[in-house]
Amino acid sequence: MGAESKSGVVRNGKRSKKATAAANGAAPARATPASTVMNGHTKKSTAPTPSTANEYKWASEDDEHDGNDVAEDIAPQDGGEKKKKKKKRNKKKAKVVEEETAEDSEQEADGEVPSADEDEADEPSPVSYSTSAPQPSSRSHGRSNKRVAHSTHPASTYDPSRYPRAIPASTPHPRVPFWTALSTYFAYGLLIAIGHCRDFLNKIGLMRTPRSSPQKRTTKTGMAPLVSDFEDFYTRRLYHRIESAWNRPIGSCPASTMTLLHRSRARYGESLELNGRSENVINLGSYNYLGFGDPNSPTKQAVIQALEQFGVSTSSSRIHLGTTRLHAELEDLCAEFLGKEAAMIFGMGFGTNSTGIPGLVGKGGLIISDSMNHSSIACGARSSGATIRVFKHNDVQSLEAVLRHAIISGQPKSHRPWKKILILIEGIYSMEGEICPLPQIVALKKKYGAYLFVDEAHSIGALGPNGRGVCEWSGVDPRDVDVLMGTFTKSFGAVGGYIAADRDVIEYLRANSAGSVYSASISPPAVQQVISAFNIIMHRDGTRIGRTKLDSLRENSNYFRKRLMEMGCHILGDWDSPIVLLMLYHPAKIAAFSEECLKRGLAVVVVGFPATPLLLARVRFCISAGHTREQLDWTLRQIEDVADEMGVKYAKPQRIK
Ligand SMILES: Cc1ncc(COP(=O)(O)O)c(C=O)c1O
Repeated sequence: MGAESKSGVVRNGKRSKKATAAANGAAPARATPASTVMNGHTKKSTAPTPSTANEYKWASEDDEHDGNDVAEDIAPQDGGEKKKKKKKRNKKKAKVVEEETAEDSEQEADGEVPSADEDEADEPSPVSYSTSAPQPSSRSHGRSNKRVAHSTHPASTYDPSRYPRAIPASTPHPRVPFWTALSTYFAYGLLIAIGHCRDFLNKIGLMRTPRSSPQKRTTKTGMAPLVSDFEDFYTRRLYHRIESAWNRPIGSCPASTMTLLHRSRARYGESLELNGRSENVINLGSYNYLGFGDPNSPTKQAVIQALEQFGVSTSSSRIHLGTTRLHAELEDLCAEFLGKEAAMIFGMGFGTNSTGIPGLVGKGGLIISDSMNHSSIACGARSSGATIRVFKHNDVQSLEAVLRHAIISGQPKSHRPWKKILILIEGIYSMEGEICPLPQIVALKKKYGAYLFVDEAHSIGALGPNGRGVCEWSGVDPRDVDVLMGTFTKSFGAVGGYIAADRDVIEYLRANSAGSVYSASISPPAVQQVISAFNIIMHRDGTRIGRTKLDSLRENSNYFRKRLMEMGCHILGDWDSPIVLLMLYHPAKIAAFSEECLKRGLAVVVVGFPATPLLLARVRFCISAGHTREQLDWTLRQIEDVADEMGVKYAKPQRIK
């Protein structure tokens, strides 16, 4: 990837006929193999057959794969012979699954809860998948080359029919009411006008306050101020008015309830300081989706032991002396959980994207990025040196249009073919709560011979019956996604991030990602926290804790979303997403909503411009498996109270069964 390799789009420096034909709208004779690896080697594709999205059955290691079946659906060129063979194989598979399922139900009827070891043996999981064996590891940290097989999970109580499953790409966004839009623009205009008046009064010596003087921001030597003009103005005159809604210090673990420390100002215009008061509140702001950040997390003892053995920090980067057996164990677990050949871990989720993406693509490459991607993705894309094109959020047609146009026109100025094309998307978008339309995007990337990178920061551990993320949720084989990225700060209650991909891609990244080579490795106790969380989610601890957590998170998220929709609020996001957004629109409501919630004992996160478009201020609720139904009911009563007071019930109350 550093020495730019060829993707399916490029062959020996010339644009491939297939890619050009696809871009021109013609069906490719056979799409670029999905498993063309990023370092320039080309492997035979092992992509299995995706039938319909949610019926997807991951292929077992014994299965033969005959390549890119989505592409075959687009261009069924190989005639009936292959299809007949495939049908036969599918029938055979279905029979095996039926037999295994019958065995399962017999076991369940006997009331047996499978032990962790039995799990490993041969039962299929509720979604009945196992993945192929990994290649022998080139690293040796005392790890066995054990078969990558997903353990069986205790039966899930998940019943998708209880909630309407919106097709992600088609989730309609509520429209901003006309008067709300008008008054929002007016309010911003007024705030900016007042801000400029105050700056003027300040300049002529009136209305001086400690933090509001633009003059003080110029250096004494008469050099230009380091702070940029508008940002500075925005911070002083708009953000400072409502800053009490952000940066709130906490005094405990980010569990479903937590201690919030209060602040106040000595006088107008001064900074907020801790005033010694604190309060226990219900936490709706932390990303503690599975409750592993709770004070009594089942991971606690192992983390304390790791702290005693390894200390807080390795004080070294991975490439030097920063690798413990825990780091190696976590990478193996990650790869196994995600169904990829290999994985590597980073000390920071943000750094995983901002230093991992430049390792994958560079000058002469093209990045096609969703318009709502997280700033860490934007940062990685910008520093890669690749050309960046943006497509409309979650809009598959827009993505296809960008892909076609880019392939037809080639690189800027020279019009040479792109060295490679990388599509960047997220599993769940953190400011929208929306899930990406993965099956459609996978079909597109295969059709046009592009690579796909999915950031699963919010979806790993949160989506899918077994918490394996957006691939499992949408029935896509993880091997069809070239790079899976995620963070440990959300569902795992730790810090750090991972990238999982083909083994040679990971080996390449280990040596070429600045975040891995030049930054200290992730703290060992944090690594142990993630290992223990994985073992619980994968039911290797011999308990049902993981199952209960996964089911509770989904039930809680859908219940909370449903009740807010029934109230008549404008709610963004998809069913099953633990991120629930309530639209406020108006800037005056941003801080007021947060303050009113706090008065009622709720800690919420409010978001406005510049993190969202000017008109689209919102509240972001993060739901956790640790929330009890009583806590949620009480919370919803408080929110209804605040919503009435703030006038944010913009929609008609909906009836949802
Ligand atoms: C989509 C996405 N990617 C990456 C990150 C960065 O992760 P971290 O907070 O673990 O650094 C975030 C943070 O919220 C995120 O939402």
